[in-house]
Amino acid sequence: MKEIENSIASCASLVELEKIRVSLFGKKGYFSGQFEELKNLEGEAKKEFAQNLNTNKENFLALLSGKKSVLEEGMMEEEMRKNSVDVTLFNQEQNAGALHPVMDTMDKIIEYFVSMNFSIEEGPLVEDDFHNFEALNLPKHHPARDMQDTFYFNDAMLLRTHTSPVQIRTMLQQKAPIRMICPGAVFRRDFDITHTPMFHQVEGLVVDKSGKVSFSNLKYILEDFLKHMFGDVKVRFRPSFFPFTEPSAEADISCIFCKGEGCRVCSHTGWLEVLGCGIVDPNVFKAVGYKDVSGYAFGLGVERFAMLLHQVPDLRALFEGDLRLLEQFR
Ligand code: DAH
Repeated sequence: MKEIENSIASCASLVELEKIRVSLFGKKGYFSGQFEELKNLEGEAKKEFAQNLNTNKENFLALLSGKKSVLEEGMMEEEMRKNSVDVTLFNQEQNAGALHPVMDTMDKIIEYFVSMNFSIEEGPLVEDDFHNFEALNLPKHHPARDMQDTFYFNDAMLLRTHTSPVQIRTMLQQKAPIRMICPGAVFRRDFDITHTPMFHQVEGLVVDKSGKVSFSNLKYILEDFLKHMFGDVKVRFRPSFFPFTEPSAEADISCIFCKGEGCRVCSHTGWLEVLGCGIVDPNVFKAVGYKDVSGYAFGLGVERFAMLLHQVPDLRALFEGDLRLLEQFR
């Protein structure tokens, strides 16, 4: 009996255990034989034999079922170990993508203005003449339209040439105060090393009650923004012209490549032009029916920012989808 107890203890598989069980409790097993023998006994001897037999039987049943749970548990653990996946393993073959440098730059710009409590507005890429030009103080035959030659569907509909029409859409839908930016794609008939027919702009507009918005507010926010984007640069504002702002200015930063000494990128001026801005022209407010308000606006090209931040010499390279270029921005 001791032998069988040992073989149960050392048994390594459920199949083996089942064999032991059959040898004990099967039809022709040990206990059937013992119960047969019981029939041949009488009186006290029979009683004693039966008691022993039952104790033995219970003992083995307990041993078998205990061992069975141990083996089953072991099997389950083994199974789990075999099928488990180590999620911390680094797979070197994996070809993960990354944000395109233009979108990455766009995100940085948006992040700044959202932190300054600007809302984000959107408008259609296919725009009408009124929103893209007329309402922005660019009447038909105005010479400034020439700077923004574009793709027309017919006399009235075109691919928007800038994100400025979203100023108009927002003012027509909401009342002042307004504090918005509009990031998005724009289109122009242009193609050379610094121009592509599709590119991205971020437009900004702040409008409040008359007298509450000034040129110094505009200068403050843009200077802070440009330092957020380019680090420790000098910022200057030069008088310029846009039909939708009066006065208008362009903002320059000190050249980030030569630190203002003069190099090829800044055409030896020490300055890089980065955006247009100004005080909203009264004609724009008139076009949207706004009264007794003042405001400032600005607009910038995202690709220009990306080119400067990542020193990309040819803008067109950003849109060719060449993985050798894109992989550098992982
Ligand atoms: N819309 C202008 C462009 O595409 C950029 C611009 C300049 C927007 C001055 C403005 C602004 O809102 O005030 O060139």
